[in-house]
Amino acid sequence: MTLIRPPAAHILPSVADLVARERPEAPIYCLRPAVIAAAAGEFVAAFPGRTLYAVKCNPEPLALRAIWDGGVRHFDCASLAEVALVRDLFPQAGIHFMHPVKARGAIRAAWAQHGVRDFAFDTPEELAKILAETATGPVSDRGLILRLALGKGVARHDLSGKFGAAPEAAAALLRAARPHAARLGVTFHVGSQCLDPLAWRRAIALAGEVVREAGVPVEVLDVGGGFPVAYPDQSPPPLGAFFAEIEAAFEALDLPEVALWAEPGRALVAAGGSIVLQVQQRRDGGLFVNDGVYGALSDAGAPGFRFPTRLLRPGGQAARIERDFALFGPTCDSADVMRGPFRLPADTAEGDWIELGQLGAYAACLATPFNGFAAARVVAVPDRPLPVRHDAPPVTLAA
Ligand SMILES: Cc1ncc(COP(=O)(O)O)c(C=O)c1O
Repeated sequence: MTLIRPPAAHILPSVADLVARERPEAPIYCLRPAVIAAAAGEFVAAFPGRTLYAVKCNPEPLALRAIWDGGVRHFDCASLAEVALVRDLFPQAGIHFMHPVKARGAIRAAWAQHGVRDFAFDTPEELAKILAETATGPVSDRGLILRLALGKGVARHDLSGKFGAAPEAAAALLRAARPHAARLGVTFHVGSQCLDPLAWRRAIALAGEVVREAGVPVEVLDVGGGFPVAYPDQSPPPLGAFFAEIEAAFEALDLPEVALWAEPGRALVAAGGSIVLQVQQRRDGGLFVNDGVYGALSDAGAPGFRFPTRLLRPGGQAARIERDFALFGPTCDSADVMRGPFRLPADTAEGDWIELGQLGAYAACLATPFNGFAAARVVAVPDRPLPVRHDAPPVTLAA
């Protein structure tokens, strides 16, 4: 499948201006580079260690450049395509291949062609594969990062089902990897959109036990991603509360020689993206719109995420009274339903545009061409993010 994307757009005047001028019948994905750069800058400034951006979360070059502008110089990549993309954009970037199961050719190319030095593993088989495929060249700079399994946690997106070595196996793997690593590390992921800072405290303590059990020194503790953002029904503590917990738990390990890393995705980009949809039909409290769970709104489907909304109406005032709506995507699949609820003026109707915010993370990059609906066009806008906890006032566009 080849997704043809337009070249990175210059910054347009505003979302409202775009809709007024184009009256688009296809969805438009609106990235806010300044918002992403600011979020990245805040994370880098406050996190007590090195920040690696998790590219999978939003690999749009516009977003990646904004993240770089915000001061991020290291990237967590999960595929060779992500590695090549980052290397192409940022020749000086530090790239870390953090997927615990990789194709041999991907390891080889990342190592030999793209200067990747750090690789994640969680089995003896993957360790052997990495050692075999990185056996030539700068082996004295090889980094091996063990992914530790965590139990099912409290995060909105559980990530415990697939990767990670159990603690006993993890200690043995660290011992096996030690002689081959210039950097030996431990990483974990508490799950995405994790609202509980204590999840990191527990995971860091577990990592410390594994290192003690292994009896070999390590150089890196990577606390993964999972840092949450606000959605209309979710109000996480400020990032500082997570960092304080991480710092305290890390200090309690008493491993002063160990470098602390984090791999945030969502926290850097969520606020910096929105999608503009057009209503194609209204049925009572349901709005049929031109993008859905097979497009940029996958998280609004089965995962049930809610997103802030605003109406963009060509001419005429919107009703002052609001009501809850469900959204229906454009494909023929009954699963293409987004229950929300999404709050909009009660008279929202066919022809109106609506903008959904907080969609910079895990949105446009999950789009498929199912049913012939192309991925939304990507544009850059200078708008502020939509307010998350109260609805944005409707915008009346020139008729
Ligand atoms: C290994 C790894 N690191 C980091 C992330 C980013 O997580 P988040 O977007 O929740 O911060 C993910 C997300 O799946 C991941 O798999």
